[in-house]
Amino acid sequence: MPEARVTCWDGWGFICMDHEAAPLQDYLGDFSEHWSRWPSAGRTTNLHIVKHLKCNWKVSLDAFIESFHVIATHPQLLVSLDDVNTQYDTYEGQPSFNRMISAQAVSSPHLGKPVSEQEIIDSLLSEGRGRPELSAEQTARDVLASVVKRYYSLAAGEEIDCTISEAIDAIQYYVFPNFVPWAGLVADRLPVPSLRQRSGSLDHGHLAAAAA
Ligand SMILES: [Fe+2]
Repeated sequence: MPEARVTCWDGWGFICMDHEAAPLQDYLGDFSEHWSRWPSAGRTTNLHIVKHLKCNWKVSLDAFIESFHVIATHPQLLVSLDDVNTQYDTYEGQPSFNRMISAQAVSSPHLGKPVSEQEIIDSLLSEGRGRPELSAEQTARDVLASVVKRYYSLAAGEEIDCTISEAIDAIQYYVFPNFVPWAGLVADRLPVPSLRQRSGSLDHGHLAAAAA
């Protein structure tokens, strides 16, 4: 009977059919250290979506690990997502993973025109969800991060401590060949157990309260 090597890492199951391959921990290298800031322990699944696509799996995966497609597929995001300056990080001696960061609440150079900080925040928060009026000194990034952090802190019943980038940017790791975890809060990763338990009752009213 065929045998596979199965390893559990941070709550995820990894299956390897190659008995000659290096142990998973060696393969992951420094990724474990990177990910230690956002451990999966104690989390639950809020939503699980499965979509069957009639294509080679590598084609579908490729569409989720770059931001070149944003201008064609999600042009409505260009007001508030800096696709052009997306940062792709690779690490010397670490061939198994890389990291992509797309800044949110910054407009895309593809628009070819200046966009005000207020226009950016308006595109991200609809009026019904508590849209703040920015002062001349405020940036959309600072205000959005503040709203998001307060939103999650309200849900958690305790102060969420994270960077602006962790609060609002798209921070995505890619572990070859098919593991793509998102870091930070923007992907609705819930960092503390109490937040998980209360998040089911979150609604737009909570976001309005966070923005107030
Ligand atoms: Fe996309």
